[in-house]
Amino acid sequence: MTRHDDPLFQPFTLGELALPHRVLMAPLTRSRSAQPGDVPQAMNVEYYRQRAGAGLIFSEATQISPQGKGYAFTPGIHSAEQIAGWRRVTDAVHDAGGRIHAQLWHVGRISHPALQPGEALPVAPSAIRPEDAKTFISADSGMVDVPQPRALEAGELPGIVEQYRQAAENAREAGFDGVEVHAANGYLLDQFLKSGSNAREDAYGGSLDNRLRLPLEVVEAVVGVWGKARVGVRVSPTGSFNAMHDEDPVATFGAFAKALDSIGIAYIEVVEDSFQGNHETGRPEAVIDAIRGRFAGAYIGNGAYTADEARQRIADGRADLVTFGRPFIANPDLPERLRSGVALNEPDYATFYGGDEHGYTDYPFLEARD
Ligand code: PHB
Repeated sequence: MTRHDDPLFQPFTLGELALPHRVLMAPLTRSRSAQPGDVPQAMNVEYYRQRAGAGLIFSEATQISPQGKGYAFTPGIHSAEQIAGWRRVTDAVHDAGGRIHAQLWHVGRISHPALQPGEALPVAPSAIRPEDAKTFISADSGMVDVPQPRALEAGELPGIVEQYRQAAENAREAGFDGVEVHAANGYLLDQFLKSGSNAREDAYGGSLDNRLRLPLEVVEAVVGVWGKARVGVRVSPTGSFNAMHDEDPVATFGAFAKALDSIGIAYIEVVEDSFQGNHETGRPEAVIDAIRGRFAGAYIGNGAYTADEARQRIADGRADLVTFGRPFIANPDLPERLRSGVALNEPDYATFYGGDEHGYTDYPFLEARD
């Protein structure tokens, strides 16, 4: 294939954004915000600036409220300092010619009293403890088990929707190009969607329609701020990370895709694998069909893609765009490298979460830059 017809390097119009190519940067938790306050800082500005060659950057998962936090050192988007910190990030990405969406995150039950306001229990649709799920509460304690959560009262749910709406406003003020609602990987909205974590008996659980209700109210609220063309949703229909299970992912995520299609959002990003990339069972083709068949917006594939697999899936119409995670950690100039077919730097797992510039902004570019 010539460079000219490489599927990865065809432009794409995502909602209102003109993307120069299809190599997008996945949302990646790096746990390096300034303390106290979970504020994006200078090294975060430099990290995103280095990666502005992505077709589109998705920010690392960013908590919408103090209650939405589940790991030490992850950034928020609920305080004035955080908004100002993100403004420096988005300015740097835009000055370097890039585009960036904020990923809006509430962790639900994947948290710990040590991270919660007033040392309260984490909240969830139901008081079901995620077996073996862990979180990171401080540099000293390392990974700890998450406790049994407290089930949210129905009367608290409008407040959660409001936290998302306010965070979407804050993302506008911070200069993002749009927002991605995180409904994947076992965090709050995924906990509502999936049968294994939602045993509610009110209008927000039980039937499939009821399980979709809170995620859809959140998407509507965010669309009210941004307009539908600047909003997407991330899902992980078959993911088991964080002790997740759904009795019928084809039905659940087919119905969710149909409802998102009615709202008219720009894209769905689908984690087609475990987020760690254990590519054992293959991609869940039936679920992919269910989503693609019901959703007219863009389909963004994710999950341990190689460049060649991404090319093939786009050429076959299985995805419109692809997000790359670990390759973007280790290769700030990933699109340039994939375009020219040169070797990639290998990621260093030991420096993924927390720490300083080492393993963060010191991966080499193809050529030394001044
Ligand atoms: C993590 O911090 O481990 C994490 C965050 C967001 C995800 C997945 C994992 O979607």
